[in-house]
Order: sequence, then C-alpha cells, then structure tokens
Amino acid sequence: MNRISQIIQLAHSADDSNRVVYDLFCDHGKVGMELLKKGHRVFFNDQVPHLVEEIRNKIEQRFIEDRGIEHSRSYQFLIEDARKLSFEENSLVICSGVGGLLLKECLKLWKERHPEKHYRSLQFILCPSYYDLELRHYLMTLGYTQVEEILCRDRSRFYDIQKVEFKGPKESIEMISRPKNEAFLEEFYKNRLTMLERKRVLSTWEQSLVDQFKSLLLM
Ligand SMILES: C[S@@+](CC[C@H](N)C(=O)[O-])C[C@H]1O[C@@H](n2cnc3c(N)ncnc32)[C@H](O)[C@@H]1O
Repeated sequence: MNRISQIIQLAHSADDSNRVVYDLFCDHGKVGMELLKKGHRVFFNDQVPHLVEEIRNKIEQRFIEDRGIEHSRSYQFLIEDARKLSFEENSLVICSGVGGLLLKECLKLWKERHPEKHYRSLQFILCPSYYDLELRHYLMTLGYTQVEEILCRDRSRFYDIQKVEFKGPKESIEMISRPKNEAFLEEFYKNRLTMLERKRVLSTWEQSLVDQFKSLLLM
C-alpha cells in the first residue's frame, strides 16, 4: 500500500469515524477527497489558491454531478498558511508531504492558539517527507502520545506515519517505538541510522538514538 492509502486507512479507523478532518498542505487533495467519500466532513487547506480551486472543481464534478449527492455542507476550503489555522474540537488534523521542521513550528503555534482542553481533544496524523526524527523528538519531549504508527515504503523511500495526541509531559521519553508492520523495521532502522551517521555533528539525543539503533540491529 502506498503512503496516501496508508494515511487514508489510518484516518478512517473506527475511532475516527465521527471526527471532522483537516487535510492540511493538501495539494492534490487525495486524502481529503477519499475521506469525504467515506462520509467525513473535510476542510482542505493549502496556501496555493489554484491547487485548492482544482480540488473544488474535482469535487463538484465527481461528487455532485456524477452521484447526485449534495456535499456542499461537508467540505470547506482554507486558502492560507497552515500555521495560522485553528481547529474545531475533536478534529483529526492530517499533515503529510512537508518537512518535519515546518510541522514542529505549526504544532507550537497551534498549541498556543487553543485552550488546553480543546487542544487535548485533537488528534494529528503526521507524515513528514523529511526530518521525521527531529519531529519525533519534539513530539516526545513536549508530551504527545502515539495512538498508532505505521511504517511505509513508497517508491524506495521510507515514511513514518504517526497518529498522535497531546497528553502533557511525561517522565520518560521513548524515541523508538514498535509500529505495526514489523517487516520493515530492520530496514527502517538501518536507513535512519545511515541518515544520522551522515551528519557531521550529532546532538545528545541523536547520539543516543544512534546507539539505540545499533544495539537493536545487533539483537
Ligand atoms: C508536497 S505537497 C503535499 C501534498 C500531500 N499532502 C501529500 O502528502 O502528498 C506540499 C503542499 O504543501 C503546501 N504548503 C507548503 N507550506 C504550506 C503552508 N505553510 N501552509 C499551507 N500550505 C503549505 C504546498 O503548497 C504544497 O501544495
């Protein structure tokens, strides 16, 4: 299954059937359109207006004309910088295809913008294209808890797809988890270890991660 299909499956699990979905950085909008078809209310966001217009046209053609279904109250478009957004309570916020450093910045701003109880009701699906270890370190340090995780290999690249929610700071931080699809685990660890070892200077947490990957690969 490719990255987009895995994200859709993770978003449409039983727990999320009633959640409003935000497909942020949506570009082609495939994730949001599929979830709209499955009955979710969807907000599409991208800062590039013509991309959002293309999605609007596709939805109007496919869903309204072809199937005669009135979806107009089920979707909305947010054409702006995702950093500026706020979300309805209990929403599922999907962020994929952008860098982990931008996602760190977004999460910081979103947390500041929502009251704590409201923020704790949100779930996030995060699938950065790069800097996923930096994002993971940020999430673990700040007190996000993993609900589910999938590793995915799509056209020879590995992606780490996490569903997380904010629970508040914890005493111990676990950078290495055990995602469902263990078949990829060893290759994924090797891949991330190689990426870390290419860096000239490693921070303390990166060095500790290198040691953990090495000992896991020896086992
Ligand atoms: C590579 S696409 C990702 C598409 C899709 N989410 C995926 O995973 O395949 C990245 C999209 O993010 C949008 N984007 C980048 N920075 C953004 C920001 N700060 N706010 C809103 N959209 C942004 C770009 O316009 C682009 O369409």
